[in-house]
Amino acid sequence: MSAVPLPQPRVRPAPIFAIASGKGGVGKTWLSVTLACVWARAHRRTLLADCDLGLANIDIQLGMRPSSDIHSVVRGWIDLDAAMTPFLGGAGAGGFDLIAGHSGSGALAAIKLDETAKVADGVRLLKPRYDRIILDLSAGIDAHVQRLAKAADALVLVVTEEPTSLTDAYALAKLLRLSGAAFEIYVVVNMAENRARGRKTFEQFAGACQAHLGFRPKLGGVIGRDPRVADAIRAQSPLHLRHPQSQAFEDVLRVAEALNQE
Ligand SMILES: Nc1ncnc2c1ncn2[C@@H]1O[C@H](COP(=O)(O)OP(=O)(O)OP(=O)(O)O)[C@@H](O)[C@H]1O
Ligand SMILES: [Mg+2]
Repeated sequence: MSAVPLPQPRVRPAPIFAIASGKGGVGKTWLSVTLACVWARAHRRTLLADCDLGLANIDIQLGMRPSSDIHSVVRGWIDLDAAMTPFLGGAGAGGFDLIAGHSGSGALAAIKLDETAKVADGVRLLKPRYDRIILDLSAGIDAHVQRLAKAADALVLVVTEEPTSLTDAYALAKLLRLSGAAFEIYVVVNMAENRARGRKTFEQFAGACQAHLGFRPKLGGVIGRDPRVADAIRAQSPLHLRHPQSQAFEDVLRVAEALNQE
């Protein structure tokens, strides 16, 4: 009789990846969701937290209606555990755990930095229970974004070929480095016209960081512009379920592999 393989013991607490950008609309939320799907399929226990405290939309991209969200955690009404909603069975069952955001609340202005800090510290306490934790941050470089980013073990900066996305991402990297954040920074070039141009964009960005900030970010990957991404979002479906074969999903598989170094 052959032995039943035992689940692999987890060797170390989950690394936390903060997905950030500076400029809005570059694909942070879609990348966060798709990375969570990739790791869930690879049997990694994954937690995805919508940390966009102003205009959350992971639940919208996934077509979910969670009964609780991060706003109640920020306010101290419930703890992070109570705010979790399993997606596709939840972490460890083929899906992942989601802490949803608070859509359209406009409540960001009322959130105090120490409330954000409590959430950031709370997420770190969840590390032993997971293999991967993803924080989808808001656009911008404000103090809340910086505080949440500092809870991470690695920063994933999403840029596009647009110069404003590069300058905004650079500003965020600079602020975080100057305030002492020592984590690895990965750059993902999204919506690239082709791999060569995406690679060139990365080199431009990495060169500026090296020349002026004294560090060189790692290439997280290049993701091509793919009309199936917008189609899947419109259908409120994860990309691989709606389009089992798509270039953008293949590209995210490679990004996940690069991030597996953490
Ligand atoms: N690889 C891609 N190919 C084509 N379209 C894409 C790709 N990635 C993202 N998009 C498009 O960009 C839009 C914005 O994506 P998303 O909401 O994930 O960005 P975001 O950075 O989270 O935005 P925000 O800053 O508002 O939170 C999506 O609705 C989708 O249509
Ligand atoms: Mg977003």
